[in-house]
Amino acid sequence: MERTPSLQERVGISKTAVIVVDMQNDFVDPDGANSRWWRRRASAEPTDLSGMTRLQGQVVTAIDRLVASARVAGVPVIWARTVNSAQTNARFWLSENQVLCQAGSWGCEIIGQLTPAERELVVTKTRHSAFFATPLDSILRRGQIETVVVAGTATHGCVEATVRDAMTLDYWAVVLGDCCGQADHPAHEQALVRMDRLFGIATDSPRVIAAWQGTLRTAHGRPAGGRRRPGADTMTSGAGRPKVVYLVVCGAPRAARAGELVERLSAAGWTTCVIASPQAVKFIDVARLERLTGYPVRSAYKDPGTPDLLPPPDALVVCPATFNSVNKAALGVSDTLALGLITGALGAGLPLVIAPALSAHQAAHPAFTRSVETLRSAGATVIYGDGAYTPVMPGESETGYRWETVLEALASASTSGAQASRRTLPSSDLAMASTVTNRRGTL
Ligand SMILES: Cc1cc2nc3c(=O)[nH]c(=O)nc-3n(C[C@H](O)[C@H](O)[C@H](O)COP(=O)(O)O)c2cc1C
Repeated sequence: MERTPSLQERVGISKTAVIVVDMQNDFVDPDGANSRWWRRRASAEPTDLSGMTRLQGQVVTAIDRLVASARVAGVPVIWARTVNSAQTNARFWLSENQVLCQAGSWGCEIIGQLTPAERELVVTKTRHSAFFATPLDSILRRGQIETVVVAGTATHGCVEATVRDAMTLDYWAVVLGDCCGQADHPAHEQALVRMDRLFGIATDSPRVIAAWQGTLRTAHGRPAGGRRRPGADTMTSGAGRPKVVYLVVCGAPRAARAGELVERLSAAGWTTCVIASPQAVKFIDVARLERLTGYPVRSAYKDPGTPDLLPPPDALVVCPATFNSVNKAALGVSDTLALGLITGALGAGLPLVIAPALSAHQAAHPAFTRSVETLRSAGATVIYGDGAYTPVMPGESETGYRWETVLEALASASTSGAQASRRTLPSSDLAMASTVTNRRGTL
């Protein structure tokens, strides 16, 4: 008889997908149709609405953390949402006066706090289960997924229907109580007990996230490996995990075009995370970069003891690199996360490409020439001089910057033999922990 796998074995990152069910305005937002329906009911008879407040607060936060952790681990996130119309509204729901999530309406949109990344699948359904009359089963089978981790709303409705069908279709189902909710909180708790008894495992997200982080720590620097995202033509490191580049963006106008570089890096097979200097944040569209990369844009060091948000990098590109950051990096200053990563990458011998953007007057400053020499002698590729990049005159705007120069430099830095033997750098968060406390001693 087949041995029953433990939770940790079931949620292995190479065979698991997260399914977020129905986190849409009509089901979650205080102004959504469902919340209004519950408030009307509460005004007619005493009703405990604490579950609604929990769903709009703690549950959203927990799902956000779950999704961020899944992205770091390379676990695909699939969003299931209800979309109905006059032609598809369920006869029973209509009889109950429930007209929800009509196509094209605000109520149908996924809530603003949870944004699917551009590459993530959004599965449209018309009934409770994310499997009913949708391509979800064939998508999961094509991705060799064996386990579904289910979050969302309503616990006893669409979440449970999805978990029941997952079990019926022979997936391991794991439902996360802290990532599920509904207005009727006792019904939420009863549903979790039922699902745990009959259809899968009911647990909380920290246990699943801890299992993923344990696998990543094992994989980091050693061949255990993450997974390819289904559908993404991704380069992999020697360990089989996607090749990750950190794009460090400093405070110059070229930062506003960082999305163009992200798109080119993705096309070249890199999984990209953006780190912005505090000054760069003024120039960039954070939400767009997060959508493009699927990762949060980081600009500050994390709080000690909090989990990693980004996967560990295989290379760094600093573009645009300001006069300020080039000089500080050469001096070994790390008072921003961006500088902590650049200086850490130099120390760790990670492939590092620095693409300055500065005025001709700044470039003529003696400190800049010295800094470029220092960085080059430490192993960085600095795209400056030899016709590769010409600084602009003060007041002039930079036109026609060649992204290809950056991509070619990155390809060359990543494949050179000297880099291949170098050590890897911890993720952005570990870099901070190492910079501040040197607890892990990895830099
Ligand atoms: C509109 C604007 C344009 C700027 N352009 C540049 C530039 O092209 N190169 C540069 O080195 N600094 C430029 N700066 C100055 C930097 O933003 C400034 O030195 C800042 O401290 C850099 O911080 P960072 O290196 O942490 O990003 C510009 C500032 C502003 C407000």
